[in-house]
Amino acid sequence: MKQWPAGKTPLITQRDIEDFGQQGYVVLENFKPREELEGLRAAAAKIIDEFDAEGQRSIFTTKEETRPRDDYFLTSGDKIRCFFEEEAFDANGQLAQEKALSINKIGHAMHDLDPVFEQFSRDPKCGELARALGLQDPQIWQSMYIFKQPRIGGEVHWHQDATFFYTTPISVLTFWFAIDDASVENGCLWVSKDGIDTPLRQRFCLRDGATEMDDLSNAPWPNDNCALPLEVKAGTLVLFHGLLPHYSPPNRSDRPRHAYTLHVTDGACEYSDLNWIQRGPELRVRGFA
Ligand code: FE2
Repeated sequence: MKQWPAGKTPLITQRDIEDFGQQGYVVLENFKPREELEGLRAAAAKIIDEFDAEGQRSIFTTKEETRPRDDYFLTSGDKIRCFFEEEAFDANGQLAQEKALSINKIGHAMHDLDPVFEQFSRDPKCGELARALGLQDPQIWQSMYIFKQPRIGGEVHWHQDATFFYTTPISVLTFWFAIDDASVENGCLWVSKDGIDTPLRQRFCLRDGATEMDDLSNAPWPNDNCALPLEVKAGTLVLFHGLLPHYSPPNRSDRPRHAYTLHVTDGACEYSDLNWIQRGPELRVRGFA
């Protein structure tokens, strides 16, 4: 366990680190100042504004059967791309509301390709946190700006992030930044009360240009009795372990629930070549420096 130097105000306390080891998550309030949140929100709005909604109709869904050969998704690991909400279109295939309120998320390499996102993501404090939680060589594989739009914001089913970022041993750490206040009403994150003493249930693998979900364990997903909502204020950072089961329900409220996430693994662990995001020399994976 890391000991903090005397006299230094810690980003994370020893107690937080112990909680993380048991619960699989830690909540750090007031981590990002309002100006940075609004800067990121504006940068996301600019990306949407420049996005040609007529040219591309890829939706984001956690229903895996709809995307095994979705090229727009599969080649987005080193790009900035927009994905629609599943409920964005009417029966005639037209957007039922304006474009800016129809996008589910932007992914997956803004942290490398957009200066505002890069500055927000490559925050030395985040590198310090990753190391405090045991990552020797943090590597940022993915960024996502998640809109969880008013009324149509889609559900994300129970899952574990190590399913998508498999390393040996498991090392993925998720940074989840609240850009808006998140509550039960607008579809906040829910986590398992049972923590991370639980097996990895699935692996999302890319083989021969198609993705498939390999089942590893039939351990059940949490039910209502062991699901805990994390209601947090804008500016809060939730850090969670790759084995922590989590989900978020649909947003049926009139309020958006923007969040920004980073998925970070330890370069000291072996990153699986079956993971759907790979990086080559043209855009190497990097850490927080
Ligand atoms: Fe997740």
